[in-house]
Amino acid sequence: MEPRRILLAVTGGIAAYKIPELVRALRGVGHVVRCAMTAEARHFVSPMVLQTLTGETVRTDLFDASEEGEIDHIRLADWAELVIVAPATAHTLARMCHGMADDLVTAVLLATRAPVLVAPAMNVNMWSHPATQANVERLCERGVHRVGPETGELACGWEGLGRMSEPEAIVAAATLVLGPDTLRGEKVLVTAGGTAEPIDSVRSITNRSSGKMGFAVAAEAARRGADVCLVAGVTSLSTPSGVRRIDAHSARQMRDAVMAELEDSTIVVKAAAVADFRPAVQEDHKIKKESLEGQAGFNLRLVTNPDILTEICERKGDRFVVGFAAESHDVVAAARRKIVRKGCDLLVANDISRSDAGFDVDTNAVFLVSPSGEVEEIPLLSKPEIAAQILDRVEKLRRERQ
Ligand code: PMT
Repeated sequence: MEPRRILLAVTGGIAAYKIPELVRALRGVGHVVRCAMTAEARHFVSPMVLQTLTGETVRTDLFDASEEGEIDHIRLADWAELVIVAPATAHTLARMCHGMADDLVTAVLLATRAPVLVAPAMNVNMWSHPATQANVERLCERGVHRVGPETGELACGWEGLGRMSEPEAIVAAATLVLGPDTLRGEKVLVTAGGTAEPIDSVRSITNRSSGKMGFAVAAEAARRGADVCLVAGVTSLSTPSGVRRIDAHSARQMRDAVMAELEDSTIVVKAAAVADFRPAVQEDHKIKKESLEGQAGFNLRLVTNPDILTEICERKGDRFVVGFAAESHDVVAAARRKIVRKGCDLLVANDISRSDAGFDVDTNAVFLVSPSGEVEEIPLLSKPEIAAQILDRVEKLRRERQ
């Protein structure tokens, strides 16, 4: 595995005595490690020990001018490819959950775009308390990764769930979160979500795309080390860690954002559900019902939107371009025709007649169709798993092409 930059955020629990061992284990597999500590953590492990083991200055204070002078907390947050919070106390988890930034560790956690892995450690009753459980659940929903806690004898004398995972288990979890690094050096451009085509200042034509499929592709590409730009249509999802996001709601805004980013991209994945048509006239005020009085209705004239995927393929060069297709019948035959028409390198076709695949669900089942008409069926899986399969296929086809 390539060396990665890991920030170890140490908080105040007795399990902090295992942190020197964790530093050695992370360095042992080649990672560069820096440490940040809360004031409480310093009661359990000395900054001098961590400084000696990491060979790097240990940061402890948000307001210390000399520490900030060396590397300020925002640069520290940007530097990290992964932040591990170990041990993660109940108090730290609660502060993370509420987005507090009242010390160095929480400020870095709020500022970083790197993935975060927590290794909780606390008394069994503190762990099982509904407040802690709710905090952990919310953090995980936001994409925070967790390893442990384990069951066993606790420092407080109780037995049960609350022991911090052993350093080897934390290193293994970190390796999983960091991903295989197979897309390092690549610039991946992903589109996700539906577009909204305004009729007037409050109404629009849109579709049921949640963005989940495209966001999963962006997250997986970032996990594999790529530099990812995500052009997001209409969605309520939060940005995956390590991903740069541009919001673009209408098809024309999405086209402009994609074209501005295309030059630098080596791989493009077009998972967005772009409206093929938009209202010919978009009123800048709300159309009043009274203005239509006496009429049975009114006609909405639609005009064709730019086809972004076709435009990308016309300027494809050496890029690898993946299109999606939402089909409701004759999925494979329609996908074979579409890949030829659009000119992309791979087409991911989903059967949107299924209730467990396609729009606004957590799972998908797809056919990967190549320009020669070759088809690989991927059965029902979670969208992150489908994303991993798509990128595996992209990597394989690119290797073959080289
Ligand atoms: O967002 P989710 O809820 O997770 O749902 C995922 C999804 C079903 C939206 C996704 O898996 C998917 O299939 N996305 C493409 C939907 C679609 O617009 O299909 P299409 O067959 O109409 O378009 C084919 C391709 O052309 C797509 O890559 C699309 O991004 C692109 N396109 C379409 C129209 C247009 N004007 N410009 C485009 O670039």
